[in-house]
Amino acid sequence: MAQTAISVSDFSFRYREAKGYAVRHLSFEVEEGGFLCVVGSNASGKSTLCNALVGLIPHHFRGKSRGSVRVFGESVAERSVAETSSEVGFVFQNPFNQLSYTTDTVAEELAYGLCNRGVPRDEMERRVIEVARAIHLEGLLDRNPLELSGGQVQRVALGSTLILNPRILVLDECTTQLDPLGSEEIFDIVKRLNSDGMTIVMVDHDMERVARCADTVLALERGNQVALGTPREVFGDEHITDHGVDVPDYVRITRALDRAGLAPGEVELTEEPTVDRVREALGR
Ligand SMILES: Nc1ncnc2c1ncn2[C@@H]1O[C@H](COP(=O)(O)OP(=O)(O)OP(=O)(O)O)[C@@H](O)[C@H]1O
Ligand SMILES: [Mg+2]
Repeated sequence: MAQTAISVSDFSFRYREAKGYAVRHLSFEVEEGGFLCVVGSNASGKSTLCNALVGLIPHHFRGKSRGSVRVFGESVAERSVAETSSEVGFVFQNPFNQLSYTTDTVAEELAYGLCNRGVPRDEMERRVIEVARAIHLEGLLDRNPLELSGGQVQRVALGSTLILNPRILVLDECTTQLDPLGSEEIFDIVKRLNSDGMTIVMVDHDMERVARCADTVLALERGNQVALGTPREVFGDEHITDHGVDVPDYVRITRALDRAGLAPGEVELTEEPTVDRVREALGR
C-alpha cells in the first residue's frame, strides 16, 4: 500500500498583520506517487497552502496556525525548513524569488543547492548536465541568471529544484511566464516525474490541464476547502462554478448538449469523448 506523503489536518493560518485567516480548516491527504492539483480564484489561499507544505509557514511567514501539516509523518512545524526541503521541492509562483542572487552562471545556479549539501564536484557537474538536458537549458548554462527572460528564469527555478531530486514536488503556478509550448513541455516533464513515482502538488489555472494531470483536485474559495475529489467529481458538480472555480470547456459543452437533449449523458473532461458527443448531436 502507498505511504501517505502529505497529511493536512484541520489546518488554518492567519498572517501576522492580516485581519482574517488566509486558509481555514483544510484537511486532506496525498498518497506517495499522487498528483494533487489545487485550484481557486485569486487570494483563495493556494500559495499559502504551498508555503505551509514546505514549512515556510510557520518558520518564515509568522502568524497564527491551527491544526497540522505533516510530510511523511513529520510535522513541518517541528522540523527546520532545511529538513523539510530535503524531501519537498518548491517551485515558487514568482521565479525571481527563487534565484540565489549569488551566482554568475546558470550552471552555478543549478548547482547551488547541491553545493550546500556537500555533493562532490564531479557528481554535481553530471547532475547539472542531466537536468539542463531534461528541461532544455543546455544553451543557457554559461549565461548570467539575471540576464534571462522570465520564461528562462522559470526553467532555471524548476531545474534548481529538480536537481535535488525531491520525493515531493510543489509547483505554484510555475509556468505563468512561459508561452503555451514552453508550458506544455514543463507539464510533460512533471507528468513523467509523476509516472516515475514523484508526488506532485500543483497550483494551476488551466482546467483542461488539471483534468488531464490530476488524480485529485482540491478547490479553495476565500481560504475554505470547497471541494476535494477526482477531477470528474469536482468538475462534474454543477455548483462548483458558484465557488469561483472554473471548469474545462469540455464540461460546459457536454453539459449544454445534455441539457438541450442533443447528446444526453454525463459531462466529459477531455477532447476525444467531447468530439464523439458533438458528432452524436450532429447525427453523424
Ligand atoms: N505575506 C502575507 N502577509 C499577509 N497576508 C498575506 C500574505 N500572503 C498572502 N496574504 C493574504 O492571504 C490570502 C491568500 O493569499 P494567497 O497568496 O495564498 O492566495 P492565492 O490563491 O495564491 O492567490 P493568487 O491566485 O493571486 O496567487 C489573501 O487574502 C492575501 O492577501
Ligand atoms: Mg498564489
